[in-house]
Amino acid sequence: MCGIIGIVGTKPVQERLIDSLKRLEYRGYDSAGIAGVVGGHVERRRAKGKIRALEEVLAEDPLKAEVGIGHTRWATHGEPSTRNAHPQTAGRVTLVHNGIIENYAELREGLKAQGRTFESETDTEVIAQLLDHELDRGKAPLAALKATLDQLTGAYAIAILIDGEDQLIMGARRGSPLVVGYGEGEMFLGSDALAVGPFTNRISYLQEGDYVAIDHKGAKIFDETGKAAERPVTTVPASAALVEKGNYRHFMEKEIHDQPEGCQHTISAYVDPVSDRTRVPGEVDWAGLARIQIVACGTSFIAGLLGKYLIEQLADLPVDVEIASEFRYRQPALQANSLAIAMSQSGETADTLAALRYCQKRGMRTVAVVNATESTMAREVDVVWPIHCGPEIGVASTKAFTAQICVLTAVAIAAARARGRIDAAEEQRLVKVLLEAPRLVAESIKLEDAVRGIAQEVAKARDVLFLGRGPMYPLALEGALKLKEISYIHAEGYAAGELKHGPIALVDDQTPIVILAPFDSYFEKSVSNMQEVMARGGQVIFITDPEGEKHAPRGARVVVTAPQSDPLIAPLVLAAPVQLLAYYVAVQKGADVDQPRNLAKSVTVE
Ligand code: M6R
Repeated sequence: MCGIIGIVGTKPVQERLIDSLKRLEYRGYDSAGIAGVVGGHVERRRAKGKIRALEEVLAEDPLKAEVGIGHTRWATHGEPSTRNAHPQTAGRVTLVHNGIIENYAELREGLKAQGRTFESETDTEVIAQLLDHELDRGKAPLAALKATLDQLTGAYAIAILIDGEDQLIMGARRGSPLVVGYGEGEMFLGSDALAVGPFTNRISYLQEGDYVAIDHKGAKIFDETGKAAERPVTTVPASAALVEKGNYRHFMEKEIHDQPEGCQHTISAYVDPVSDRTRVPGEVDWAGLARIQIVACGTSFIAGLLGKYLIEQLADLPVDVEIASEFRYRQPALQANSLAIAMSQSGETADTLAALRYCQKRGMRTVAVVNATESTMAREVDVVWPIHCGPEIGVASTKAFTAQICVLTAVAIAAARARGRIDAAEEQRLVKVLLEAPRLVAESIKLEDAVRGIAQEVAKARDVLFLGRGPMYPLALEGALKLKEISYIHAEGYAAGELKHGPIALVDDQTPIVILAPFDSYFEKSVSNMQEVMARGGQVIFITDPEGEKHAPRGARVVVTAPQSDPLIAPLVLAAPVQLLAYYVAVQKGADVDQPRNLAKSVTVE
């Protein structure tokens, strides 16, 4: 969602603000803007659309400032337009905001009644107007900010410039993350570590309710009660180099290729390759546990669903998986002695965070499986199970998905062993199988050319069906989600056995049907479904392994043969062709692969 950068610099900031905004593009946005102090006054430049539109504005009218703020906006209140783009200004105040102010309508009416006029439809302008109002009442900037924050309900991360305060940027966070970056004689604010990544890797993470003032001398941080607060400065590993595309055309392509390494790093953190035993971080009483509750959204939900298959099968431990936006509002009955697991690449997804907090309030022990280890979820849970795949920039999640599955596979093995469902020898066998995954995923990515060949035809389709049984069912859901989000082709994932209960009506000779069927215990059943589809003219793309290829009936339009693997890791191995199919279909259609329309990387509003 929206991205924020603020720089109190010792040299011109325009280029650096733009550089940082480009790094935040992955969050999804529809307008962008910057503001800076020029000759003692704040000026701003804004544009609807991509950052290159803002660059065109700046080419005509550069911003000659050494202190400035920047923003990429993902519209919530008010259409994407230059008028609604941030920075928003009211009187002496110019600010950028990420989040949603829930009581904005009421505040706006109150301010209007006092004679204030609004130029945008945004909730953000209400913050600027309120702050300007408090300054008008004679308050100093920090006191005015505190008084403003006290009136806001909702979520925000803000960076603020005040006319007449040439060296100052103020900021605040509640619900949306904000970091302070420490440079050499320069200071930064950013919506995440990547925003300030090009300038510094020394970061403080503001806590809920904190507000801050930065100038050349450093940062003054206050907690929500207004008391001065110390927040530790940490050195973050996410170097600028980690988020370059390298020789790849898109981040998504790069991230698909990053997967062997992402799986390798993740698996190494959860198993000991010397003893072939699991070593899942944090104390969990697996033997005493009654149930697991997984909450997540999107691809993370699908990874969680796969986790259910793995954990229930191996550890005989009941797992409920639920879409966080449903879970959080329907007052689910929770069983005592259960473990709540939030799955989230970003660790900031609003619905997942709310579901997690719901579980916490009911006394459950909580775990977060996250990529962003400094995220809000990671900081609020009892135990963090990090995935180690590096920053994921493409909006379509790929390497985080496979890394999440690596974690849940290791967890399933650990739980099975602790619950006495497998002996030490079986644990070692399964760990050895898991350790093979990075190599086999790398082999599977080599199917790229074969998959590219199919994409041309699939790109013409109106609907695509993905079918799978057992652990291939979640992968079918993921294949459909990937395809629709980046290529805008309607796609559905189904449990193959459900076919005849409805979806078979969609089958005709224009419908590509992707059947995911490695040679496992479900194979025969999946092949029966394949026959049913082919009998109705369906164009089958059969994704299998060498044994499956040997045993498959003739008639598939295309067979894609991934490397042979143990069923335990087949979802990891078959994920690459599924992701590559979506990728090449989107490329074929000329779609904006890394920033698909209407989508955001980190969905911090509900
Ligand atoms: O950061 P999270 O894992 O919590 O994000 C959840 C979803 O928003 C995310 O997986 C989304 O569905 C992706 N665009 C899928 O590719």
